[in-house]
Amino acid sequence: MDNYIDFQNVTFAYLNEDEEQSSAKNVIENFNLKIKKGDFVAVLGHNGCGKSTVAKLCNAIEIPQKGKVYVDGLDTSDGDKLYDIRQKVGMVFQNPDNQIVATIVEDDVAFGPENLGIEPKEIRKRVDEALKSVSMYDFRFFEPHKLSGGQKQRVAIAGIIAMKPECIVLDESTAMLDPRGRKEVMNTVKMLNEEFGITIIFITHYMDEAVKANRVIVMENGKIVLDGTPKKVFGEVDILKKAGLDVPEATELSLELKKSGVGLPDNILSMEELFKALESLI
Ligand SMILES: Nc1ncnc2c1ncn2[C@@H]1O[C@H](COP(=O)(O)OP(=O)(O)OP(=O)(O)O)[C@@H](O)[C@H]1O
Ligand SMILES: [Mg+2]
Repeated sequence: MDNYIDFQNVTFAYLNEDEEQSSAKNVIENFNLKIKKGDFVAVLGHNGCGKSTVAKLCNAIEIPQKGKVYVDGLDTSDGDKLYDIRQKVGMVFQNPDNQIVATIVEDDVAFGPENLGIEPKEIRKRVDEALKSVSMYDFRFFEPHKLSGGQKQRVAIAGIIAMKPECIVLDESTAMLDPRGRKEVMNTVKMLNEEFGITIIFITHYMDEAVKANRVIVMENGKIVLDGTPKKVFGEVDILKKAGLDVPEATELSLELKKSGVGLPDNILSMEELFKALESLI
């Protein structure tokens, strides 16, 4: 399957029970998005532009009123496919405390596969593997509330991995973390993508995280306004600013330096790149 996630002309509105579709405001309209298997896609956009709605449409938490969303070829509006879709696409949310249900780390990771009805021996194996893959195996007997935010979020990710998803959607999963926790989660997600080929959809407000993706999508008012490699997207400073976003710190700084006559190349995305470019000028 070439396109793992496939939004085809999707229109979606949050309807009140008594509300007619015609009176509700569409959050997204005629929305098209295709994501290839194994890709790492960052989604950026100002508050309320529809990022979380797109995330929820990816694993059938919400169903479009018009158009279709396909996950690995399965139609999310087909109730018979719900179980398969939820197993294929795991979601990690913002607040780690809301995602942890058990009082011991390894029990928490086992919760998802238990609900899938997987046999105990296999669960044991999956829990150990999942905890190792997020570097939390040594904490398996800990109480989750004693962990840092980044550690809790990695336990939440392990809980998802134990269900063997093909795709993980992270909806601002680093937003409540300190810089160290953010880095831990980002490195974990990057490894899951590169080593296990898990498709990643990474919603974030942090530009320095988005530059680590293969593809960056910028949304504004329910529409995609930029879509491409980080280099391409962060070169579009005017469109980004109009969408209420910043460019990465290093990009901003290098643009300022260029304005004052320093001969730097275009589209610098990280401080390392900036230092290297400056070094070569000296
Ligand atoms: N459950 C809901 N019921 C009604 N309206 C909703 C609901 N959830 C979101 N909305 C509205 O839909 C629009 C898109 O919201 P969404 O949560 O998808 O945006 P977002 O880009 O994730 O924002 P944020 O950056 O704040 O998380 C907003 O106008 C929001 O107020
Ligand atoms: Mg959101």
